[in-house]
Amino acid sequence: MEFIIAESAEDMSRRAADRIASFVEADPSCVLGLATGTTPIGLYADLVADCKAGKISFADVTTFNLDEYRGLAPEHDQSYRYFMKKHLFDHIDIDQERTHVPEGFNPDADAVCAAYEQAIEAAGGIDLQLLGLGPNGHIGFNEPEETFPKATHCVDLTESTIQANSRLFDSIDDVPRQAYTMGIGTIMAARSVLVVVEGAHKAEIVKKAFFGPVTPEVPASILQFHPDAVVIVDPAAGELCRDMA
Ligand code: F6R
Repeated sequence: MEFIIAESAEDMSRRAADRIASFVEADPSCVLGLATGTTPIGLYADLVADCKAGKISFADVTTFNLDEYRGLAPEHDQSYRYFMKKHLFDHIDIDQERTHVPEGFNPDADAVCAAYEQAIEAAGGIDLQLLGLGPNGHIGFNEPEETFPKATHCVDLTESTIQANSRLFDSIDDVPRQAYTMGIGTIMAARSVLVVVEGAHKAEIVKKAFFGPVTPEVPASILQFHPDAVVIVDPAAGELCRDMA
């Protein structure tokens, strides 16, 4: 695992965007795993700018998002499909048919999850998976548990995640209680992984996840065992890890 403390949040985004761009340059038909959340917004803006400037093309890229709320239609402004269109897909030259987000509007959890795993396999697996880090150490919607969930599955969100996400909804009652998410096995099967983390409120969990014991109670800690994981944090998120980087 490579751990990098960037010079600023902007530098974190730029470095992460450059890493994604380098995968697309090396293989224009690569398969990217994508994340939502606040942290990747800056790096998506950088990729949009690069694409508009003609430096990069996503024309042949395939994408799979990590997760989606169960029960939200793709048009809902808090759905992850909506987020991805707003911040990336609608501004780059990607074929939207090649962009995949779990079908949140489909209540048949078993069918949605099995189809998602099959689609990833049919695409040849994920070359580079982008991840954010939840305040409790979650990746995707894989919350702290007693075991590492393997495949794409339906999860009940924890109270802390519902709280953290409620800032984006009119009221906490509107936050969906369940989500479809890639499993830890799905994420670990990606050939490369890129994690971005920003903010002082993540400093403790960054230290635990990337320098503490590997345990399903801190789901991101498993990434310490990934053969090609790069973690890029801003100075605030990396504050407690300066001696370790
Ligand atoms: C998003 C996702 C989540 C976020 C995490 C961090 O698709 O799966 O695990 O990456 O909650 O979110 P932010 O960046 O908003 O702090």
